Amino acid sequence: MTTLFDVYPLNDITIVKGEGSYVWDDKGQKYLDFYGGHAVISIGHTNPHYVLRIEEQLHKIGFYSNSIVIPIQRELAAKLGEVSGKTDYHLFLCNSGAEANENAMKLASFHTNRKIIVAFSKAFHGRTSLAVAATDNAAIVAPVNQTDNVVFLPFNDTAALTEYFKTHGKEIAGVIIEGIQGVGGINVATPEFLQVIRSLCDEYGAVYIADSVQCGYGRSGKFFSHDHAEVNADIYTMAKGMGNGFPIGGILIAPSIPAKYGMLGTTFGGNHLACAAGMAVLEVMDRDNLLQHAEETGNYIMDELKKIPALQNVRGRGLMIGFDVPEQYKDLKKNLLSKHYIFTGEAKPNVIRLLPALNIGKHEADLLLAAIKAETGNS
Ligand SMILES: Cc1ncc(COP(=O)(O)O)c(C=O)c1O
Repeated sequence: MTTLFDVYPLNDITIVKGEGSYVWDDKGQKYLDFYGGHAVISIGHTNPHYVLRIEEQLHKIGFYSNSIVIPIQRELAAKLGEVSGKTDYHLFLCNSGAEANENAMKLASFHTNRKIIVAFSKAFHGRTSLAVAATDNAAIVAPVNQTDNVVFLPFNDTAALTEYFKTHGKEIAGVIIEGIQGVGGINVATPEFLQVIRSLCDEYGAVYIADSVQCGYGRSGKFFSHDHAEVNADIYTMAKGMGNGFPIGGILIAPSIPAKYGMLGTTFGGNHLACAAGMAVLEVMDRDNLLQHAEETGNYIMDELKKIPALQNVRGRGLMIGFDVPEQYKDLKKNLLSKHYIFTGEAKPNVIRLLPALNIGKHEADLLLAAIKAETGNS
């Protein structure tokens, strides 16, 4: 019998149903979802508008290749510009976060005709060739992915970055950075650091790539977390929350980078069904004012978490929140799941990550806070 290639350590739970910020297992147990399937669920499980949009599209046509006009791609680009405020950017659609980053770095290299990509300590950009090479985790980089074209510098260190640009500026194709590192443990890039990246890229003609796969699409309370620093990147990469679970990724490209036929391409990217999912997400975000909701709910959760003495270094923006758990409470994440039926995320070695749907309610926030307090002896 053919079985699955065993690469994931699994929780022994089978989820069969979801609604809003709740999911149910095959035994009928209800769980509160503060993980969002790894920051993917942006507008809630089985959101009615989302289900309807995909269903209606499926009855018309699900897929045709990028060799014909696909009007819903253009609608998605226009809606994305409207909701994100990047109205003069152009959209290229693909299928995942890694693929978005591959395309962004490739485009930066084509555009500048240079080879060096600057990435940062603790970065995660995906598992494909250049994306994984720009990921700061030697364990997941295969020998074939190793390259001298990627240079790692310390995160949030403006002096080191400025120094590197001084010596190698004319070789740098692009700088890739998460506005808030996700897999790396919820590390927020300082506004000053992002502003220095912007000005160095301008000075030396390099491309500023904002990996917004996890921290983008409203998660931080602004559409892109880089918006908190009031800078515009040259390329924003997106996936996760973009399709609320339907595989879709994309890159938003500044007007200063011209397109050329054949420069990028994909079979599945931008198919009708994926675009219907993407439209539904943006329509709900817009209709329900989810950026503001994410900011307010996130601030509430962070303020309350900071009052719990056992938790250290509560940090993040909007609904991308992390905190350190002392050794004494190292089973907190496990206990939240097994005793309180709450899914949360983690980062090594002792960080809990909260990545709920952007429309999670205050009641759900209070359920999580009560469970953490109960587990840390502070109820
Ligand atoms: C910041 C960031 N970039 C890229 C990726 C890769 O996305 P995907 O798994 O869709 O390829 C991830 C996934 O966790 C991510 O967090």
